Amino acid sequence: MRLINILDVEVGSKIAKPVYDSKLSLLINKNATLTETLLNKLKQADIRHLYIEDELSKGVILEPLISDEIKLQAFVIMKNIYESQMDKVEKTADTVRESTIRELKDLVDDIITEIYSSNELKYYSTELMGAEMYHYNHAVEVMILSMLIGKKMGLDRERLLKLGMGAVLADIGKSKVPSEILNKKGKLEPAEFEEMKRHVEYSYHILKDLVGLSSLSRQIVLLHHEKLDGSGYPNGFQGDQIPLLVRIATVCDIFSAIVSDRTYNNRISVDTAIEILRSAAPTKLDQDVFGMLLQVVDIYPPGTLVELGNGQYGIVIRSNLNSPTRPILKLISKNEDLNEYKEIDLMEELTLFIKKVIPKLP
Ligand SMILES: [Fe+2]
Repeated sequence: MRLINILDVEVGSKIAKPVYDSKLSLLINKNATLTETLLNKLKQADIRHLYIEDELSKGVILEPLISDEIKLQAFVIMKNIYESQMDKVEKTADTVRESTIRELKDLVDDIITEIYSSNELKYYSTELMGAEMYHYNHAVEVMILSMLIGKKMGLDRERLLKLGMGAVLADIGKSKVPSEILNKKGKLEPAEFEEMKRHVEYSYHILKDLVGLSSLSRQIVLLHHEKLDGSGYPNGFQGDQIPLLVRIATVCDIFSAIVSDRTYNNRISVDTAIEILRSAAPTKLDQDVFGMLLQVVDIYPPGTLVELGNGQYGIVIRSNLNSPTRPILKLISKNEDLNEYKEIDLMEELTLFIKKVIPKLP
């Protein structure tokens, strides 16, 4: 299985992961064959990437840490909360039912159980594909990544739950931002950006009266755009004014946003996202947290197409746990039958190195 840009996918391709519409109904199922009509439907729904199964990606297994079923359950709850807030003038909690928050809490708790039972804590960004799903994908991804880092940093189960709840609900206030600003394809005007920034206060107000949501979770919601150097919002807090749990959610929020398809930007590869974060890390982001992020995400996730230093091309099959920049690859030669590929382990071929990630074969 591998991720492919919808502009490069061919009619007749086998779909490897289901795609949903904005109502979370199935648009196209796993193992289906892509027809011209379906492809047009997906493009109309602004689906930009698909997971497919082909000769090139044979043997590439992308096993998500958290199952798609659990993610879909989280999406349904998030969608309910999101929609309960849209078109409501008041920015308060009256329309979010406490039972919904309890349901979400139970689900986050189930995810913690899955995290505890996994031997390997690597997260692949194997999002559910679907129309207008960015907000739900992002919320769930930030929640999972934050809890993985929290666990690595030794947080107990109770604090992990508070971290996960804060992280998943942090952007719920975007339901109050006018959709022409939220979904604008171009750069935001200064006044529009100011309104966008207000989502943290909207989130906070929506949740502040809810019984069952801890003050730590609420703090994450309010402060998840603060930066260590004081350049963040809404308060311009600096250094120790920003609690550790907030710093974890902030790093995961930025990372997840960069590696996702958004209205105004297409996804960027994980290795580039890491470099962008690295350049911001010393002054704006917590370095220890950033170091932990490098331990929980895969720089070259399985299915990534790469160009090697010697000019050859390859597809990543799986990573080497102790050497994230030297995965196991299938070498691709355009003149050979793809079934006759050669598998190499970059830990054994030390003169070879990955030069760059490529979106498709030239
Ligand atoms: Fe946010």
